[in-house]
Amino acid sequence: MTADELVFFVNGKKVVEKNADPETTLLAYLRRKLGLSGTKLGCGEGRCGACTVMISKYDHLQNKIVHFSANACLAPICSLHHVAVTTVEGIGSTKTRLHPVQERIAKSHGSQCGFCTPGIVMSMYTLLRNQPQPTMEEVEDAFHGNLCRCTGYRPILQGFRTFTKDGGCCGGNADNPNCCMNQKKDHTQITPSPCLFNPEDFMPLDPTQEPIFPPELLRLKDTPQKQVRFEGERVTWIQASTLKELLDLKAQHPEAKLVVGNTEIGIEMKFKNKLFPVIISPAWIPELNFVERGPEGISFGAACSLDSVEKTLKDAVAELPAHKTEVFRGVLEQLRWFAGKQVKSVASIGGNIINASPISDLNPVFMASGAKMTIVSRGTRRTVPMDHTFFPAYRKTLLSPEEILLSIEIPYSREGEFFSAFKQASRREDDIAKVTCGMRVLFQPGTTQVKELALCYGGMADRTISALKTTRKQLSNFWNEKLLHEVCASLAEELHLPPDAPGGMVDFRRTLTLSFFFKFYLTVLQKLGKEHPEDKCGQLDPTFASATFLFQKDPPANVQLFQEVPKGQSEEDMVGRPLPHLASAMQASGEAMYCDDIPRYENELTLRLVTSTQAHAKIKTGRPVRCMLDRDEDMLITGGRNPFLARYKVGFMKTGKVVALEVEHYGNAGNSEDLSLRVVGRALLHMDNSYKIPNIRGTGQACKTNLPSNTAFRGFGGPQGMLIAEHWMSEVAVTCGLPAEEVRKKNMYKEGDLTHFNQKLEGFTLPRCWDECLAISEYHARRSEVDKFNKEHCWKKRGLCIIPIKFGIDYTLSFLNQAGALILVYTDGSVLLTHGGTEMGQGLHTKMVQVASKALKIPISKIYISETSTNTVPNTSPTSASISTDINGQAVYEACQKILKRLEPFKRKNPRGSWEDWVTAAYQDAVSLSATGFYKIPNVGYSFETNSGTPFNYFSYGVACSEVEIDCLTGDHKNLRTDIVMDVGCSLNPAIDIGQVEGAFVQGLGLFTLEELHYSPDGTLLTRGPGTYKIPAFGSIPTEFRVSLLRDSPNKKAIYASKAIGEPPLFLAASIFFAIKDAIRAARAQHGGSNTKELFRLDSPATPEKIRNACVDKFTTLCITDVPGNCKPWSQRV
Ligand SMILES: Cc1cc2nc3c(=O)[nH]c(=O)nc-3n(C[C@H](O)[C@H](O)[C@H](O)COP(=O)(O)OP(=O)(O)OC[C@H]3O[C@@H](n4cnc5c(N)ncnc54)[C@H](O)[C@@H]3O)c2cc1C
Ligand code: FES
Ligand code: FES
Repeated sequence: MTADELVFFVNGKKVVEKNADPETTLLAYLRRKLGLSGTKLGCGEGRCGACTVMISKYDHLQNKIVHFSANACLAPICSLHHVAVTTVEGIGSTKTRLHPVQERIAKSHGSQCGFCTPGIVMSMYTLLRNQPQPTMEEVEDAFHGNLCRCTGYRPILQGFRTFTKDGGCCGGNADNPNCCMNQKKDHTQITPSPCLFNPEDFMPLDPTQEPIFPPELLRLKDTPQKQVRFEGERVTWIQASTLKELLDLKAQHPEAKLVVGNTEIGIEMKFKNKLFPVIISPAWIPELNFVERGPEGISFGAACSLDSVEKTLKDAVAELPAHKTEVFRGVLEQLRWFAGKQVKSVASIGGNIINASPISDLNPVFMASGAKMTIVSRGTRRTVPMDHTFFPAYRKTLLSPEEILLSIEIPYSREGEFFSAFKQASRREDDIAKVTCGMRVLFQPGTTQVKELALCYGGMADRTISALKTTRKQLSNFWNEKLLHEVCASLAEELHLPPDAPGGMVDFRRTLTLSFFFKFYLTVLQKLGKEHPEDKCGQLDPTFASATFLFQKDPPANVQLFQEVPKGQSEEDMVGRPLPHLASAMQASGEAMYCDDIPRYENELTLRLVTSTQAHAKIKTGRPVRCMLDRDEDMLITGGRNPFLARYKVGFMKTGKVVALEVEHYGNAGNSEDLSLRVVGRALLHMDNSYKIPNIRGTGQACKTNLPSNTAFRGFGGPQGMLIAEHWMSEVAVTCGLPAEEVRKKNMYKEGDLTHFNQKLEGFTLPRCWDECLAISEYHARRSEVDKFNKEHCWKKRGLCIIPIKFGIDYTLSFLNQAGALILVYTDGSVLLTHGGTEMGQGLHTKMVQVASKALKIPISKIYISETSTNTVPNTSPTSASISTDINGQAVYEACQKILKRLEPFKRKNPRGSWEDWVTAAYQDAVSLSATGFYKIPNVGYSFETNSGTPFNYFSYGVACSEVEIDCLTGDHKNLRTDIVMDVGCSLNPAIDIGQVEGAFVQGLGLFTLEELHYSPDGTLLTRGPGTYKIPAFGSIPTEFRVSLLRDSPNKKAIYASKAIGEPPLFLAASIFFAIKDAIRAARAQHGGSNTKELFRLDSPATPEKIRNACVDKFTTLCITDVPGNCKPWSQRV
C-alpha cells in the first residue's frame, strides 16, 4: 500500500511532505526541514515549554476552528494532517513588526538569555487567540508548562498583566487599584519609583489583525475524512476515519498502539528507546471524541483531550446542583495540577487510563468514583466499572490486545455522597505525584453512617490501588473520631511500602495516605456540619478548618523601587535608566541564534558523548562537528553545585552574642578536582556571612567521590558557606529563646570592623539595608500576625525570617581580575564595541553600551556591539564572580577615554560641532579612531596559608525578609511574600539589576526548597531532566515580591559607582528556607510535643518530603519504616 502525502500549514504556508516519518517530531521538522529555529529544544519531554507552538484546526464536533498550544517536541508530524501550525516566527519579527506579545515581553524586561522566550510568547499568544482579554489567573494557568531559568518570572507576569482584565500598570495615574503603583503603600517614607516600563509605549492588541485559518483547510471541513497512512523506515502510522476501520485495524494489528496526544508514547520512544511498528490514530473518529450528559453521569469519548474534559466539567459544576458534582470537583482538582496547557490540550483521557501509570492522577479518582469504561473490539462491547480489578499488574489493564477504550462515564454524585481528590508532588505545577488519591463516602440516607467508602491511591504500589481491607471494615460505622483512628491505623498497615520501594521517600508517602484521609475526614465533617447542623458529628474545631482548605494562590502583587536618575541628567545619558536588554526583541521574535540554531553545514558531523573511564576515540576529522547535548545527557554528564556537609561548634552568651565558632566544611567534589577547592575556599571566606565572630576557625575539604565532577555555580561556594552560618545563627537564637532577627542584628558587623580574613569593612551599608527591609516588610507587625495565625490554625503554619548577606566581589585568583575592550569609531559616527565578557542573558552587553554611551556622550543608537571573541580582545577572563561589569565596564571606559582624548583637539576647534563632525575631522587628519582599553583591579590578592592580603575589592550587601505558609499535613508550602533591599551602588540599569536580583533569588529558591538530585545506590543519576528535577516554575515565586535597590549608596570601587549584582542575591532565598523552618517549629510545638527551644535537623532543600517528615505528629509516628542495615534504598541523596 502506498503512503499518503502529509499536508499541513506552517505560518500560513502549505507544507506537503511525501515521506512523512511517524518518528519525526514537529520540533525536528520545524528546525531541520523548514529552518524555523525560533522554536527551541529545551528538554524534549514536554516539561519546559521552550518548543511551544500554536495548533489550529477545524473541530467537527464543535463546528468551529480551535486554537491550542502544544509541545512541538512531543507532537509527531503525522498527527498534523490538515492542521495549521503557528510558530514564533509566524506572529511577528523585528524586520517587519513585533506582535504585541513579543513587544511587551521584551519591553517589560521579561527575557534575559531569551531561550525560554519564544515558548512563553507562544503560550501567551495562544491564550489571547482564545481569550483576547484574559484574567490574571488565566495568564498564570497558561504558563504551567513553561519554565524560565533566568528572570524570576515576575517581569513576564507584570508585562503580560497589561493584556488582562485585572489591569496593568498605568504609572499610578489612572484610578486603577490593580496598578502596581496604586497598591498598598509602605509605612516607610520611600518614594515609589516609576514603573520599569511604560505601558503607553505598547502597541494595542488588535485581534482582527491575526492571521486567518488557511481557507484551503477550512474548505475541507465538508469533505468526508478518508483513512490516511504514512510509512517511515520503521514505523507505519494509520489515521483511521471511522470506528469500524479502527476496530478492523486493531484486529489486524493487536500489538498496535493508539496514539492521541503522544505524551506517553513519545516519552517511551525517546527515553526508553521503544519501537512501536504500527501506530493507529483515532483522532478523527466521532465516537471517540464525543461528550454527552447522561442520566447517571457525563460520558467522554476516550480521545477527548484533558483540556476539553476540564472545560466540560467546569461548566457542569457551574450549572448542576452542588451535591451532583462532588466527583467532578475532584477530577477538576486533579486537572488543576496536571501538566501544562500544552500537554492537557493534546493528551487524552483514554491515554491516561490505558497508560495505567501507577502515579496517574486520574485513575484513583475514577476508581474511587466507580466511573464506567466502555470497551469495544470488532464484534464485542462491554461496560465495566473501574475497580480494583481494572489494573491487574504494572502498566496493564484488563483490555485484551484487540480491544480499545471507547468512552468513560464519570458519575454524578448523589445526596449524602462526598468526594475529594488530593495530590502531592515536589512542585505544584506540572509535576508527577508522589502520592495521589480519590476518596468517596456515601452515607445511609439522612445519617452519618457509612454505606460505601472508597479510598484509592496512586504512588503506593505498582498500579492504582483501592484500600479495600480498610474500607470494608468501616461499612455501617459512623463518621467520627473512632473511624478516623481506625482508618489511619489500618491504612498505615495496608499501604505499607518496603524501605527500598521504587520512588523512595517511603515514610513520606505512607504518611501522605493518612494525611489525605484526615483532610477528607475533616472536609466531610465540615460539609456534614453544613448539611446536618444539629448533628454532633458536624462540629469541626475551627482551628482544624485550615486542613480542609485547597491551595489558592492570590493574584501576584509586585513592587520595584529604585533610584531615578538625578534631575538634569541628559536624555542621552542612559546610565541609571531601565533600558531593555538590547537583544530582547530578537529573543522574543525567535531571531536570536543559539548554538544549535547555527545553520547546518553539508558535511557536518554530529558528536555524541559516551561515558567511559578511558578515552576511546581519536578525532581529527577536518570537518565541522555539531555537539548539542540533550537535557538528560547534559544532566547525566555535568555535575552540579557542590553539596556541603558541615560540623560546627558555636560558643555564645545568653544574650545571643556569639563569641567563638569552629566549622569543618566538607564539599562533595565528585570524581575530579575541577573548581571544588576554590569553591570550598570561598565558602570559608563566607563562613561569617555578615557577623562579627571574635574567635573563629574554619577548615574545608573537597572530598573526592564517585559522582560526576561537581563545579562552581552562581555564588561559587558563598551560598554554601552562608547557609551554614545562618543555620548555627538560627539555632543560637532558638537556644537563647530570643527573636532570631534580634540575635542576627546583635552579631552583625559594624563599619570599620575587620572580617575573619582581616579585611576592613568600609562603606558598610548592610545596617541600612537591614533597617530598610525591616521597615518596608513591616516585619514586627507581621511577626505578631504570623504568631496569631499559628495559634488559630492547627494544620497550616506560617513562618517569617529576615536574612542579611555580605558577598565579597572579586576573583581570589588575582590575575583573573583583568579585562580588555576594543572601541572602533567609523566615519559615520557609529561605534563598534567589543569587550572580554560573555553575554549570557545577564545584560552585560546592554550595560557596556550604556557605559560607552555615557563615556563618549553619544546616544546608544550609535553604538553597536560585536560578539565577544579572542581575535578582538585576547586572554579574556571567565565571565563569572559577578565582576564582569566592573572590569569590562572599566576597560570600555578606558578605551573611550583614549578616543575622547584624540578627539579633543577637534572638539576645541569646533566646539559647536557634532560627534560626527569631530570624528570626520579626526579621520581627515589621519588620527587613529580605534582604541583598546585595559583594566585590572588594584591591590587585591589573598593567601589562605598566611590569612593575609585583601581577597575582595569590595562587598555587595542585601537583606531579604520572607514569609511562607506550610501545609503541615502534606509538606506543601506557599511563598507568601518576600521583601528585598539590595545595595547595587548606583545602578547602571535598574531593570537589569532588579532582574538579576529576582532571577538570582528565584534560583536560590530552587536551590533551597526544590532542587534535589537523586542517585541510585550504584551511582546512576535518576533525576535527569525537568520531569524529575524540579526547578522553580511561575507559581513558585512569592505572591508578593518586592525588590528595592538601596538609594544613595555610590560605590567608589566600580564603574560609575555601581556594584556587582549577578551572584550575591541568590543567597537571599535562604530567608525562605529559614521561614519554612520557623513554621515547622510552630507545627512541632503544637503536634509533636516539642518545646520551642528544641533543635531539629532540616537539610536543604526543604522539599515537601522533608517538611512533612519534620512536622512530627500522630500520623508520622504511625508510618516509621524499619530500614534493615542491608537495605539498598531506591535512591541516595548527596
Ligand atoms: C509533560 C507531561 C506531563 C504529564 N503530567 C501528568 C500528570 O500530571 N498526571 C498524570 O497522571 N499524567 C501525566 N502525564 C502522563 C500523560 O500525559 C497522560 O497519561 C496522558 O493523558 C496520556 O494521553 P495521550 O493521549 O497523550 O496518550 P498517548 O501517548 O497517545 O497514549 C498512551 C497509551 O494509551 C493507549 N491508548 C490511548 N487511547 C486509547 C484507547 N482509546 N484505547 C486503548 N488504548 C488507548 C495508547 O495505546 C498508549 O499505550 C504527563 C505527561 C507528560 C509528557
Ligand atoms: S523542549 Fe519541548 S517541552 Fe521542553
Ligand atoms: S531561560 Fe528564560 S530568559 Fe533565560
